[in-house]
Amino acid sequence: MTYSFLTRRAALGALSAAAAGTMSRRAAAIAPSTAPTAVVPYGAAINSPALTNDRAYREAAAKYCQVIVPESEMKWDELRPSRGEYRFENADIIVAFAREHRLALRGHTFAWYGAMPEWVNTIASAAEAERELTTHIQTVVSRYRDVVSSWDVVNEPIPDKPSAVSDLRQFVWSRHLGENYIPIAFRAAAAVDPKAMLVLNEYDVEYIGARFQARRDALRHIVRRLLDQNVPLHAVGLQAHLYADRAIDRDGLQAFVSELKGWGLKILITEMDVIDDTLPGPEQERDAAVAAKADDFLEAVFAACRPEVILTWGLSDRYTWVPTYNKRADGRLNRPLPLDDAMRPKPLMAVIDRFRRRAV
Ligand code: XIL
Repeated sequence: MTYSFLTRRAALGALSAAAAGTMSRRAAAIAPSTAPTAVVPYGAAINSPALTNDRAYREAAAKYCQVIVPESEMKWDELRPSRGEYRFENADIIVAFAREHRLALRGHTFAWYGAMPEWVNTIASAAEAERELTTHIQTVVSRYRDVVSSWDVVNEPIPDKPSAVSDLRQFVWSRHLGENYIPIAFRAAAAVDPKAMLVLNEYDVEYIGARFQARRDALRHIVRRLLDQNVPLHAVGLQAHLYADRAIDRDGLQAFVSELKGWGLKILITEMDVIDDTLPGPEQERDAAVAAKADDFLEAVFAACRPEVILTWGLSDRYTWVPTYNKRADGRLNRPLPLDDAMRPKPLMAVIDRFRRRAV
């Protein structure tokens, strides 16, 4: 089965948008009509309050994205304020926008240590944990089966600093179910929607240094074990929250992605942004440095494979999570995203656009 999260219409939209961006009218007129260039879809994490209240943001999302993913609206704390209760209103705002504009939709996320409601701490046994986790996944996947084509089933399973390849992050599901929570989650999602592209998503696997090598090793270890057990894992998501002041390990990343690809997995760039709080210099230089960092990262990934999608974690600097943990000391706004705070494209967008159309 081929797993794709682009509807046919969205794929055609992506092609014509890319053609419009690259070709002069004359070139387009003499180009063969069967557009030969494959185009990697672009998308962004979207937040529902901005979608509701900010028209410029809404228009930019419809203009630039072929794929969207809710930034928080499908996390446990939003969907499950209390046990036995599901609240879909905010997720549905994003779903309605995707339908209205015929955008592909990714879902995020089922098994993550973050954004968990308090009540899950009252889960008292393995059987109860398995029941809560699988019921949640069944309920949410079946509700959105006809519109969500890809899920981040498991997010950030590796501890920040793994001390062994088999190290797993400890949180409610791993505490009760051990490493089994991962196959349980993937199998529950696949049982409800066998067509969905199911993704294991991780951060901090792209830099030079022992910690990052250890994170790649731990991720490789999990993936290999899942594939050996025939778990329906289809792709690995590289979050790519890139730090402007860390060097990309081009060889390490390329080798890592090649290996995953060799195992039959697809690769997604799921949450790219460039954390820019330490960047000195005027805005223009900062924007160039941000774009250069993404270029470095994408170069290493594309040297190994063409990813299924490039998503950034937010679309415009007007709405970004970066200052939550990485606010600039000089009081200036962070500029981690492809559009500035007035919805104008920055050099980062040009880099993304170039890679999207790159032949590999
Ligand atoms: C972040 C959101 O951007 C914030 O708005 C929220 O408060 C916390 O989560 N990795 C992930 C995302 O997989 O879900 C996180 O999103 C950012 C890091």
